[in-house]
Amino acid sequence: MLLLREQPLHIMSKILAKITGVQGYVPEHVVTNQDLEKMVDTNDEWIQSRTGIKERRILKGEGLATSDMGAEMVKGLLKKTNTRPEEIELLICATITGDMVFPDTANTICDKAGIRNAFGYDINAACSGFLYGLITGAKFIESGTHKKVIIVGLDMMSSILDYSDRTTCIIFGDGGGAVLLEPTEDGTGVQDQILKSDGSGRDFLHMKAGGSLHPPTAETVANKEHYVFQEGRTVFKHAVKGMASTVQDLMKKNKLTVDDIDWLIPHQANIRIIKSVASACDFPMEKVVVNIEKYGNTTAGTLPLCLWEWEPKFKKGDKILLTAFGGGFTWGTIYLKWGYDTTA
Ligand code: COA
Repeated sequence: MLLLREQPLHIMSKILAKITGVQGYVPEHVVTNQDLEKMVDTNDEWIQSRTGIKERRILKGEGLATSDMGAEMVKGLLKKTNTRPEEIELLICATITGDMVFPDTANTICDKAGIRNAFGYDINAACSGFLYGLITGAKFIESGTHKKVIIVGLDMMSSILDYSDRTTCIIFGDGGGAVLLEPTEDGTGVQDQILKSDGSGRDFLHMKAGGSLHPPTAETVANKEHYVFQEGRTVFKHAVKGMASTVQDLMKKNKLTVDDIDWLIPHQANIRIIKSVASACDFPMEKVVVNIEKYGNTTAGTLPLCLWEWEPKFKKGDKILLTAFGGGFTWGTIYLKWGYDTTA
């Protein structure tokens, strides 16, 4: 009888994955709109009014790559959360600018951060990469098989930008962040998600060469096919629609109103996209996290960078929506309850 009575209680306390720490990283070197005015035919007024960006960070230095930024984030995260490197069981790295085509960057980050007992792999979902990584990591925690999982979201966009193309080089920057996921039964953590993809969107946002379709040749290099290509207006429209619809659908699914949500954290692609999403979902801008003016679009890095910067403002139990749209097309929204208060 005792067993029977205890069973329902056990079933009720579901294991969820909660973020127990976040650490961001951006390189020191700042590139302002004024710096870009010297490189391409643009101006500060156009960039700020059309994108909301004032400056972005660029990783500079011989031999430095995405994994070096990732290792800095992860080392900082381990220190901050009092976690020993050997306790980490899995590290997922969301990026489209890995150090090499193969091997993956997750394992290079582990190597550089001294993590020896984990397995890891990369997720390629462009600007939605952190969302895809977070959900994947959460499933390992929820299943009970893993207790300490790190999700890294970052990009070194400067390595795939054509600094003579004013339509792309003004938008992107380098950087990102890492979160530690651990099990909890206190009701906080990742609650629900709607994630989508549509491969027919690949024509509008991609890198033309370097993969198996168009392996690198002298011609692909001469034709500048190893840089970001995008049809900005098309991506803009799909981004607003994709983020707004999944935010609204997820809120409806979880019976949430705008008043219930404490923070909407959108991918930082363009301030006009962010404002359009907020307006379509009736969110006041006071609840919308924005730091695009400082970092530009860091692709898989924007969401963890926002979490890192806003961490001191979050309170345990805060209801947060993370939403993104990116190349693929990939998009979606995650609903989570913040897991801790930050003590200064
Ligand atoms: N400086 C000055 N003028 C520029 C410019 C720049 N950096 N970039 C483009 N222009 C010009 C264009 O050449 C065009 O001139 P034209 O009318 O003489 O042809 C004009 O500005 C308008 O171009 P358009 O592409 O319509 O501008 P836009 O308002 O759509 O803004 C983006 C361009 C790229 C900023 C915008 O479309 C965007 O943010 N798209 C989404 C990008 C994105 O988020 N991608 C990442 C994945 S989520």
